[in-house]
Amino acid sequence: MEQYVIKGGIPLIGEVEIGGAKNAALAILAAAILCDEPVVVDNIPDIRDISVILSAIQSIGAEVERLGRHTVKITGKTIHMVHVGYDSIKKIRASYYLLGALLGKYKKAEVPLPGGCNIGIRAIDQHKKGFEALGAKVKIEHGMIMAETDSLKGAHLYFDVVSVGATINVMLAAVLAEGNTILENPAKEPHVVDVANFLNSMGANIKGAGTDVIRIKGVKSLHGTEYSIIPDQIEAGTFMLAAAATKGDVIVRNVIPKHLEAISAKLMEIGCQITEEDDAVRVFGNSELKHTQIKTLPYPGFPTDMQPQMTVTLALSHGTSIVTETIFDNRFKYVDELAKMGASIKVEGNTAIVDGVKKLTGAEISAPDLRAGAALIIAGLAADGCTVIDDIQYIERGYEGLDEKLRQLGGQIERVACEKDIQRFKLKIC
Ligand code: UD1
Repeated sequence: MEQYVIKGGIPLIGEVEIGGAKNAALAILAAAILCDEPVVVDNIPDIRDISVILSAIQSIGAEVERLGRHTVKITGKTIHMVHVGYDSIKKIRASYYLLGALLGKYKKAEVPLPGGCNIGIRAIDQHKKGFEALGAKVKIEHGMIMAETDSLKGAHLYFDVVSVGATINVMLAAVLAEGNTILENPAKEPHVVDVANFLNSMGANIKGAGTDVIRIKGVKSLHGTEYSIIPDQIEAGTFMLAAAATKGDVIVRNVIPKHLEAISAKLMEIGCQITEEDDAVRVFGNSELKHTQIKTLPYPGFPTDMQPQMTVTLALSHGTSIVTETIFDNRFKYVDELAKMGASIKVEGNTAIVDGVKKLTGAEISAPDLRAGAALIIAGLAADGCTVIDDIQYIERGYEGLDEKLRQLGGQIERVACEKDIQRFKLKIC
C-alpha cells in the first residue's frame, strides 16, 4: 500500500505549473459523446478519476484514443449501449454526467448512482428535477438511475439548491432538446462556464453560464471540436495554501487569477503577500499569520474544496479562527488526524473552532478523502519532523504528480511502497 512520507519544516520556494481542471475535464469528457464526430480535448490532468471516466466512455462503445499524456480524442459515433456498468464507474462522482449526455443524445440512459468522496450527503434530486422538467421519466432502481423519454423539450427550471453537478447535467441534456431552456439559480463555478464554452464550440447555443440565469436554445445536432480545459482552481489553491502554511514563497503559474480571488483575499487577510500577473499568482507567507473566519459558499464564495487546506493553515496561524462548512455535512473528518499532529481544533456541527498553535509535529495519519488528504500533506510539510500519510489513493484521484511538484519547490516528500522505504527516507532525510 503506497504512502507519502514527508519531512516538514522547510518553506516551499520556487515556481509550479498548474494542470487542467479535474472537475471541468470530467464533465467535458462525458459531454464529448454528445456528437458523432471526433472531439479532441487537451489539458486534461493525468489522474485516476480521468482514467475512470474514459474507461466508462469506452465501455459503452465510444472510441477513446490517448493522443498524449494530456490529450484525448473521443468519437461518440460507435456508442452501442446507454447502460454504464457499475464496476467501471462506482468510484467517481462525475459518473452522473454520462446520464445527462446519454439522455441528451439517445433519450435514454442508465448510470449507476454516483460514488466519489464521502464528504456528506450528496443528493441528486436537482438532477432528477431537471431531467423531469425536460420531459424524461427518471427512476432509481437497483442502484441505477434510469432516465428515458421519446423527446426532450426545453423548460424553465429553478434549482432549489445551487449544484455544480445538476447545473452541468441539465445543460448536457438541454443542448439537444427541442426549444428553449432557462436555468435559474445555477452554479457559477469556473468549470460550469468551461463546460458551456466547450458545448458552444460543438455548436450548442448556451448563454449566461457564470451568471444567475443560463439560457439554452436547443440545436438539432452537435459537431466535433478541439478544446483545451481551463487550469485547475483547486490545485492552484492547494499550492497557494502550501506556500502560506510553510511560510514559503511560491509563484503558481498557468492559472486564471480571477478564479482564485476568494482564496487570495483570505490569504491577504491573514497576512500573506499576494501579487498577480496575467496568468500567475505569487504567494509570500509572512513569518506570523493571523486568524480569520471562513464560510464555504458556491462560487464566487470560498470553495468547499479548499476548506481543509485553509483550516490547516489557520491551525498554524495566531489566534482563534472560525471555519463554517455550508456545502457538505461531513467535511471535517481530517481534524482527528490533525489533532495527532498537535492541532487544536474543536468541531461543533458544521463549524470548526481553530485555536492556532505555534507548530505541528509529524505523525502517522490517514487521508480520509481527496482534499482533506491534500490538506494533511500541507500539514506534514509545515510540521516539525516526519509524517507518514496512508490512503493516498484518495489524493491521487485528483492531483497529478503532487509529490513531484512539491519536491520541485524544495518539499521533502516521497511516495513509498513499504516500511523499508520509509526507514530509508528517514535515515536519509529526517
Ligand atoms: C462538485 C465537485 C466537488 C465540489 C462541489 C461543490 C465535481 C466532480 N465535484 O460536486 O469537488 O466540492 O461541486 O463545489 O465537479 N445537492 C442537492 N441536490 C442535488 C445536488 C446537490 O441537494 O441534486 C447538494 C449537495 O448535497 C451539496 C450541495 O448541493 O450539499 C452542492 O453539491 P454539488 O454542487 O452538486 O456538488 P457536486 O456536483 O457533487
